[in-house]
Amino acid sequence: MEKYLKNLPPEIKNLIVLAGEVSREIKMPAYLVGGFPRDLILGAKDWDLDITVEGNGIKFAENLAKKLNVSLVRHERFGTATLIINHCLKVDIATTRKEVYPSCACLPVVSPGTLKEDLFRRDFTINAMAVNLTAGAARKLIDVFCGKDDLAAGKIRILHDLSFKDDPTRILRAIRFKQRYNFKIEPKTLCLLKAAVKSGLLDKVHPHRMRDELVSMLKEKDPSAQLKQLYDLGGLSFISNSLKPDRQVYVLFRSISKEISWFMRSFPFHGSFEVWLVYFAALLRQLSLVQSKRIIRRLGLSKQEEKKILSCRQINQRFIRRLESKQIRPAQVFNLLKPFSYEAIILLRSISRDSVSKKHIADFLNIYNSVRLSISGDDLYRLGVLPGPKYQKILNKVFAARLNGSVKNRQDELALIGKIVK
Ligand code: CTP
Repeated sequence: MEKYLKNLPPEIKNLIVLAGEVSREIKMPAYLVGGFPRDLILGAKDWDLDITVEGNGIKFAENLAKKLNVSLVRHERFGTATLIINHCLKVDIATTRKEVYPSCACLPVVSPGTLKEDLFRRDFTINAMAVNLTAGAARKLIDVFCGKDDLAAGKIRILHDLSFKDDPTRILRAIRFKQRYNFKIEPKTLCLLKAAVKSGLLDKVHPHRMRDELVSMLKEKDPSAQLKQLYDLGGLSFISNSLKPDRQVYVLFRSISKEISWFMRSFPFHGSFEVWLVYFAALLRQLSLVQSKRIIRRLGLSKQEEKKILSCRQINQRFIRRLESKQIRPAQVFNLLKPFSYEAIILLRSISRDSVSKKHIADFLNIYNSVRLSISGDDLYRLGVLPGPKYQKILNKVFAARLNGSVKNRQDELALIGKIVK
């Protein structure tokens, strides 16, 4: 494994060395598992670390957190912990365990297990490899299920025949990894996947787990291809029988991808922006308000997410036509767009084909949205205006004038309120 590990960024190499030292000090063998060995071999650059420990994962995490001087989040119920190294790097630490599924699609009964049992409970061979971390021991790939061969052959393969029955979210995961790496689902796995879809196993998944998988899918590089694969292989009836994406939806998804790239490039310091939410809102546009609300509630989306998704329904042709007008003034553009989240604005730019409206949206984000008045209620008070709803009205007028360019600085603003007050 050394040839793969040596190309890692220094921060990750250091982390691995320190984790190895902790493993030796507290005498608990530890391994890198899950997506990390897979992406290491593939040369992908996604470095979130998953460590599994033979012994006590939480104790290991406490020791490593101390060594790294970082904070630790314990998930006592699951016997796991997460170290937050920085905003783009985290380490998940667990104890090796085995899982037994008492019935289809329900949560497994978990008990301590060996490394081999821990690997066997996983979804696909390519995700069931481990790299030994313990300092002093050779850093070898532990590959009981021939995951490396499947990586080389580009194959997604489950570990046992009941895999999709145990955990039907693996249906979505198989499609996601297939599409992400341009792999093939191995024939027997594909056959079992189709049978699992046909028997309605996806309907049995807990809504929150379904939400997480859908979100992961929509965060992938090409959500249009992801959606098409999912629809072709599994259909979307597990979300709603009425969801039947047509060519227009895929075209819209591709347009959203372009607009999101533009947004990320142009506004790298934007506030919170949920990429997946734009796609999800676009998908639900096909449905009625009642149907959309039902899905949003069933998947357990937050109130904030619900508000953003439902606000996207106001983006209709009439709204778009108003924004396409060359005559519309900056203050009108501001008033039209201000109520919307960034996600809704990006969806709007993706739906609109017209360069005028795209320019209006860019100006809103670039200019209008950051305009601030230099005057305030204090200036009105000094002019003898008694506090009340009038203040907001006057300030709004001045703000509109500022956006439209008829006032440019504090002096102009003061002159204008003087005129209005008179
Ligand atoms: N896993 C599993 N079955 C699931 C979810 C996860 O077996 N339903 C196991 C897999 O071994 C997986 C690991 O847990 O590799 C970590 O899961 P996750 O972080 O969801 O996925 P990654 O493989 O790391 O993929 P990604 O690159 O999308 O983060």
